[in-house]
Amino acid sequence: MDIPIRYLGNSGLLVSAVGLGCNNFGRENTPTVTAEGTAEVLSAAIDAGITFFDTADIYGMEYGLSELHMGHVVAQRRDEMILATKFGHTEFASPLAHLGSGGSRAYIRAAIDQSLERLQTDYIDLYQHHTPDPDVPVEETLTALNELIDEGKVRHIGHSNYTGEQARRAQSIAKRLGLRPFESAQNEYNLLSRSAENDILEVARDMNIGFIPFFPLYNGLFTGKFSRNGGPEDSRIMRIRRHLVEDAPWDAMDAFAEFCSERRITMLEATIGWLLAVPGLSTVIAGATTADQVRANADAAVSWSPTSREFDQIAKLFTIATKSD
Ligand SMILES: NC(=O)c1ccc[n+]([C@@H]2O[C@H](COP(=O)([O-])OP(=O)(O)OC[C@H]3O[C@@H](n4cnc5c(N)ncnc54)[C@H](OP(=O)(O)O)[C@@H]3O)[C@@H](O)[C@H]2O)c1
Repeated sequence: MDIPIRYLGNSGLLVSAVGLGCNNFGRENTPTVTAEGTAEVLSAAIDAGITFFDTADIYGMEYGLSELHMGHVVAQRRDEMILATKFGHTEFASPLAHLGSGGSRAYIRAAIDQSLERLQTDYIDLYQHHTPDPDVPVEETLTALNELIDEGKVRHIGHSNYTGEQARRAQSIAKRLGLRPFESAQNEYNLLSRSAENDILEVARDMNIGFIPFFPLYNGLFTGKFSRNGGPEDSRIMRIRRHLVEDAPWDAMDAFAEFCSERRITMLEATIGWLLAVPGLSTVIAGATTADQVRANADAAVSWSPTSREFDQIAKLFTIATKSD
């Protein structure tokens, strides 16, 4: 069955309900560290009906490597892809830092040209400001991004890691200056990280900008392959984020596993089904390191939808768990 397509907020941009997060591409110790491994997963995603791809200039073990690897596939299949990338993360070293801070006009103008070149395309569908920049007024960032829209290099703009207050402020500044506003918000959100609910998610809904949760599977914890004793040694969690297993609320995780087994669905299906039922959420950009993973994630877009009672049951399970931990 085809993956449903959804509007990204008010933008008019259509994205697949399950997208692909691309931060594994070019990442060390993964099958996608190489261009070939990346092409295999990316092609499997497109073949499975995924149209939305989210990367960033900083993804990969070297700056630009995720975009560079993706470019080989983009060159062949651009018309099947809605491409999102990001610029200006304030916590990562950038070879463009000498030009200015990540949100500045000079930085943005250089960053877009490099991303376009690495991705082998002449436009980006959604260009996202990766983190708010305390050193640059958002007026400057928005004005520079609007220039890119006027030049046809970028179709839509979004932000990431903005608070609700920062998002509201940016929108009112865009309105005051007669600029195209940010049309999406990307922030951490999953069953265990829920702080967006009382902040950016609420604001995104109110302003009708598309909400894109990152770490939707909590780095893979919600794929069902972990237990309180650990999980596959080659997984990201066991390699570099063991604390996510050690600190997980296992009583709630076990109750969730039972909920899934009573309904004969996998934890992955329940997790993606739950996320897709969150009002205002546009697309679940789960990451993947193999073609099989990406196919399972694509299938989960249509496998199961919670009733409103089931939605609340799952939400409550982890609200209680996160409050008591
Ligand atoms: N804006 C930001 O600041 C920000 C920050 C972080 C991420 N992001 C974006 O959000 C995207 C998603 O986050 P993420 O990829 O880090 O984490 P995630 O989606 O929560 O988890 C992805 C990981 O789970 C495992 N997995 C996925 N599908 C699976 C399946 N069907 N079966 C078994 N295991 C599976 C894979 O890791 P293993 O194979 O290693 O287990 C995969 O890398 C990123 O790719 C990136 O585009 C944005």
